[in-house]
Amino acid sequence: MKDDGPKGFDLARLLAERGAERYELHTKHLNHQLPRMLRTIGFDKVYERAEGAHFWDADGNDYLDMLAGFGVMGLGRHHPVVRKALHDVLDASLADLTRFDCQPLPGLLAEKLLAHSPHLDRVFFGNSGTEAVETALKFARYATGRPRILYCAHAFHGLTTGSLSVNGEDGFRDGFAPLLPDTAIALGDLDALRRELKRGDVAALVVEPIQGKGVHAAPPGFLRDAQELLHKHKALLIADEVQTGLGRTGDFYAYQHEKGVEPDLVCVAKALSGGYVPVGATLGKDWIFRRVYSSMDRVLVHSASFGSNAQAMAAGLAVLAVMEDEATVDRARRTGELLRDRLTALVDRYELMHEVRGRGLMIGIEFGRPSSLKLRSRWTMLQAARKGLFAQMVVVPLLQKHRILTQVSGDHLEVIKLIPPLVIDESDVDRFVTAFTAVMDDAHSGGGLMWDFGRTLVKQAVANR
Ligand SMILES: Cc1ncc(COP(=O)(O)O)c(C=O)c1O
Repeated sequence: MKDDGPKGFDLARLLAERGAERYELHTKHLNHQLPRMLRTIGFDKVYERAEGAHFWDADGNDYLDMLAGFGVMGLGRHHPVVRKALHDVLDASLADLTRFDCQPLPGLLAEKLLAHSPHLDRVFFGNSGTEAVETALKFARYATGRPRILYCAHAFHGLTTGSLSVNGEDGFRDGFAPLLPDTAIALGDLDALRRELKRGDVAALVVEPIQGKGVHAAPPGFLRDAQELLHKHKALLIADEVQTGLGRTGDFYAYQHEKGVEPDLVCVAKALSGGYVPVGATLGKDWIFRRVYSSMDRVLVHSASFGSNAQAMAAGLAVLAVMEDEATVDRARRTGELLRDRLTALVDRYELMHEVRGRGLMIGIEFGRPSSLKLRSRWTMLQAARKGLFAQMVVVPLLQKHRILTQVSGDHLEVIKLIPPLVIDESDVDRFVTAFTAVMDDAHSGGGLMWDFGRTLVKQAVANR
């Protein structure tokens, strides 16, 4: 028999030969509902290349990314400094993950990260946002010796079982019980917090300073007052900065918007990856880590096989260096203000637009019941079928007609969320506002393709019941 020899591995060839099968492969072997959903709304595109805040389809059309891969592309795609750091770390052939030595990169990244939250002392590195939250929940329970975690209604902290226990949406939780002992309070409800703390079994409150679902910020003063109450009852404040951290909201961490807030544990992930290497980090106070790792026997009591790997650490270090060199946080604040101001100016012009909110480059646009009779009947028809359909009607032409990727900010919400790469510039803001204005004009004309599509969405929503 003829020996063909080793076949080797050629990534470019594989993609050239089989890239076109992407949707079929996904349908056959992965979550089959994703391609189905993408086809339904006409999002089943073939993107070939990406750079910064843009990507390109096979025909060379450019798309503006206002989603940043759910926030992981803080610096945009393929930032040259991050990319070079990854080439360099591979070329260095480090003795990584021996697990019985101390590598330099994790310590260096921890040192850099901690410089942004001087009241914190130590870092645990995992591999994702949900893992960063899981770590915080475990550490809080162990350090306080108490079982219960409080969280806020509508919160999102990840989808593994611990994080799911502090998720504020039934749609995610249903069918996965029993979860950890928990209690939800409304974001901003200090009375509820006080009531729960009196029971003496609370380890921590976990909170997103600005909630991803719906883009709702904690009311002014809430984080500081909650922290004071929690500490009075010997419980901890956990800030989930997985989405809001690393400049997204115009501060390095969103909790820093308000003076005096010093969370006991801070969860970071997404943008620290540079968009390349999954990573999660849980930052915390020394005494918490000392309790968890209280003896040599407990050295591995909380650990992760891939935690602190050299690629993730190199990407994180490069991201923080770029953020310093390019003043990314300031830039996000300024570009965010520009975008928000320009969108806010539209609220008086379009009756379907109710509010523009958020900070930095985390902006929510909320739609609501129009005042004119002409539009109200259409709005009512959509709402009767399913809440959130109007926002979907906006997201679809933004992509189809204007090649701008956005998302509805959570199920049953009439809110679209903008979390673009922090590197977008004024021309990107212009492009978005011009496109959004055109879509609003169409929506307010009350006819045309947009409302035809609305009727299709209504039919699907009714059929799916
Ligand atoms: C605030 C927050 N926490 C946690 C997570 C979970 O992160 P991951 O998807 O990396 O597990 C997310 C993801 O969207 C998030 O927005």
